Amino acid sequence: MKTLERQREKMESLGQLAGGVAHELNNMLQPIFFAVDAIQKRAKDDDVIQASSKKIISCTTKAADIIEDILAFAREDSDHLCFINMKETFEHALSFSKDLLPKTIQVSLSPCPKSDYWAWMNETDMVRLLTNLLTNAADSMEQKGKIDVKMDYIFVLKDDPNRPEIINDVLKSGRYACVSVADEGRGFPREEIERIFDPFYTTKEIGEGTGLGLSIVHNILKNWKGGVNVSSVEGKGTVFSLYIPVCRTET
Ligand SMILES: Nc1ncnc2c1ncn2[C@@H]1O[C@H](COP(=O)(O)OP(=O)(O)OP(=O)(O)O)[C@@H](O)[C@H]1O
Ligand SMILES: [Mg+2]
Repeated sequence: MKTLERQREKMESLGQLAGGVAHELNNMLQPIFFAVDAIQKRAKDDDVIQASSKKIISCTTKAADIIEDILAFAREDSDHLCFINMKETFEHALSFSKDLLPKTIQVSLSPCPKSDYWAWMNETDMVRLLTNLLTNAADSMEQKGKIDVKMDYIFVLKDDPNRPEIINDVLKSGRYACVSVADEGRGFPREEIERIFDPFYTTKEIGEGTGLGLSIVHNILKNWKGGVNVSSVEGKGTVFSLYIPVCRTET
């Protein structure tokens, strides 16, 4: 319990710091884009200037993407949330996210329960969540294999001894949608579980991952008053479970 609490405090202060820096950097990117655009237009026949401008634009675009990720990790507001249908939003977001994977990855979705529940969330972040988890799963299987996705509704009873620690520690009693993403990839040892949600923790090559994906997942669920749990067996695979609070009607 203490470790999770410390982890949350650490994430909060890191979020504030990273968010502040990201805002400052973001403000500097716009003038760079405008300046390069002007230079490009003025020196249409100069190959060296055109090639250098392209390089500046591609690096600045990459920097803008990373800043966007840092802001998503640092964002702590619920202004952009609305009451939406859980099943529809999830299915829609999943069909979008899975299209981003290579064809060598098969995503199998178990039939969702028919019941109509609503959640206080937003579709953009749902796409972001699923895209991060599916991409990680595909990476862990070296871009080939099967990912099993499920969505179910469960009732969480606080301090239920049969539930994983995260549920007792983070979630209140109530009804939740539980979305699980299971892969048959490299898995990881217990010690690594402590670190994977840390911002900038990555085992990927330099330039291949910033290590922000799972901290964004964690933050989105925190904004939705939900939680995330992970279980993994080294060499066998990993299951991420997302818990999203839901209720029956729109009001
Ligand atoms: N499904 C998984 N199987 C095995 N390892 C995983 C899985 N998901 C995450 N990890 C491990 O956790 C680390 C952190 O994941 P995270 O998504 O935060 O960052 P990343 O994927 O490395 O980079 P980014 O998401 O920013 O491109 C990964 O580098 C990987 O080592
Ligand atoms: Mg990732």
